This record gives sequence, C-alpha cells and structure tokens, in this order.
Amino acid sequence: MSPPPSRIRRVQHVGLKVHDIEEAIAFYRDVLGFRVSDRYNPGDNPYGPHAICFMRCGNLHHAVSLVHFSKDTEMSSRPEMMLSPEVGLHHVAFEVGSKKELENWANYIRAQGLELAMEPVVHSPANPEGDGTMGENRAFYFKDPSGNGIEIFCDMAEMDDDTNRVNDKWFRDRLERDGHAGDAADPPPAWKPGVSSMADTKERFGKK
Ligand SMILES: [Fe+2]
Repeated sequence: MSPPPSRIRRVQHVGLKVHDIEEAIAFYRDVLGFRVSDRYNPGDNPYGPHAICFMRCGNLHHAVSLVHFSKDTEMSSRPEMMLSPEVGLHHVAFEVGSKKELENWANYIRAQGLELAMEPVVHSPANPEGDGTMGENRAFYFKDPSGNGIEIFCDMAEMDDDTNRVNDKWFRDRLERDGHAGDAADPPPAWKPGVSSMADTKERFGKK
C-alpha cells in the first residue's frame, strides 16, 4: 500500500446531528460563545434534506456544523452520546487557553445549571495532579441539549515524532505554569506497541 500523499494537518471541524436546530444554535451561540457563519433551512441544502448551521469559534468559517434533518424525519434518540453503544462520536473537545480559563469555564457551565459528566481532571500518569490516564490535558465533560458529548480542555501534550513521547520541555514548562517544580515529574514513557499504556498505572491510580 502506498503511503498517504501528505500528512493531514489537523482535525478542524465536526458535524453534529442535533434534535432541535434552534435549541442547538442557541446553546452553541449563547452558552459556548460560537457565532453563526451561515445556515441552510431544510430543503435548501443541495446535498440532502437536512438543515445545517455553520458555527465558528475562531476565525475559520466553521468549527462545528449542526445538522438537523427535516421536521418530517424522525431522528433516533441519542440521549447520551458518551454512554450510547452506537458507533459514532463519543465526544467533541473544545480548547481553552489555560488552567485558569478552564476553571472559569467549569464554574460557568455549572452556573448554567448544566451537569458535568466529569469534573476537571488532568489526564496524566506523571503529573502530580494526574488521574493516571494519558494525554496530559486538563479537561472536564458535559453534553449539549441533544446529548452530544462535549469536552473543554487545555494543555494537550505536545509530542516528539522521533520518540513518540511527550515533549520534555513542554512537560516541564507546563508543570511550572501550573505551580509545580519543573522537575517534579518526568514525562510518561513512550507507549510500547502491543502493551496498554495503563498497564503499569492501574496499581498506582486504581480503577477510575
Ligand atoms: Fe477527549
């Protein structure tokens, strides 16, 4: 098999199916601060019967497209994306700029009366605040009105391609940003193919 023609730059946007597009637009606009870039009404979309609302957080046209089928189409109930056994998305993650911003967001989401599916954690087996899982990012979880799983996170680990390990400088700078000594911990070891990354962390952290 020939290799892909280039390296994909990033995951840039996500299309989410929603039960009620007005409710969904209001949520992403008023609660999460997205702006509407464009929208189609049912029947206006040349590629299908669904209405779409393109919403942006940064300056790119859409980071989220909300997709709603015509009112005549019965949408299957997916009340809990993160708990549903159906194939598809588990959650969508939106990045904020710092630990402080993330804490402000968690307080804000609680103040909206929304239930957090998971309180803020640091997904790390090495960080002094870590929960034993991977990624190094700090995150919390909730869901939109249609049940789509949402994560707010900051500090996703930067990786070294040559070692496939968390970048050492990034790791230590982040420790210091969060008020720890830069040498308080070492980056977690590189994943070994065929072995669960959690294999040697279960004892230390227990089952989450
Ligand atoms: Fe995530």
